[in-house]
Amino acid sequence: MKKILKIAAVVVIVLIIALQFFKPDTVNPVEDKSKFITSKHQIPDNVFQKLEKSCFDCHSYRTKWPWYSKISPVVYLVNNDVNDGRKHLNFSVWTDYDKSRMIDKLDGIITEVKDGEMPMSIYLPLHPEAKMSDADVKMLLDWAKNLKDSL
Ligand code: HEC
Repeated sequence: MKKILKIAAVVVIVLIIALQFFKPDTVNPVEDKSKFITSKHQIPDNVFQKLEKSCFDCHSYRTKWPWYSKISPVVYLVNNDVNDGRKHLNFSVWTDYDKSRMIDKLDGIITEVKDGEMPMSIYLPLHPEAKMSDADVKMLLDWAKNLKDSL
């Protein structure tokens, strides 16, 4: 019995090592700074810092990849959320959006933040700094509404 457990442990370890050779690329695309949201809109520092801590990992090309996020198979899940997040909303290509799309994205931000849907809950245990206090929610809602009205 002991021997079988040992063999099983070795097999699992070898599999995990082998998995490291097959994994998605986590290099961020190069950001064209002229397309980043701040090239078009001035964002107050406190709002920017909150977006950076809570949203940019999945909604920009400024994703920070901690060591554990690059380990296969975890990297598949993380990469999936990042790609999906960028597809839905990407602050790094904000100026590619036309006015109605910007309004649509800001409406989306207002709804998601108000309902506490974003940042995704799976992200929070390892990113406690991304959590949203009531004050953070109000700050982001005020910012998104003001920006929307100014467009
Ligand atoms: C861990 C990754 C992750 C983080 C962090 C995150 N998001 Fe998302 N977000 C996603 C994914 C994935 C989707 C698409 C699937 C869905 O809607 O659940 C999405 C969708 C959205 C959408 C819908 C966009 C559209 O028009 O379809 C909005 C708006 C949004 N996020 C805003 C935010 C904001 C604001 C923050 C920060 C407060 C944030 N997200 C943080 C992953 C993330």
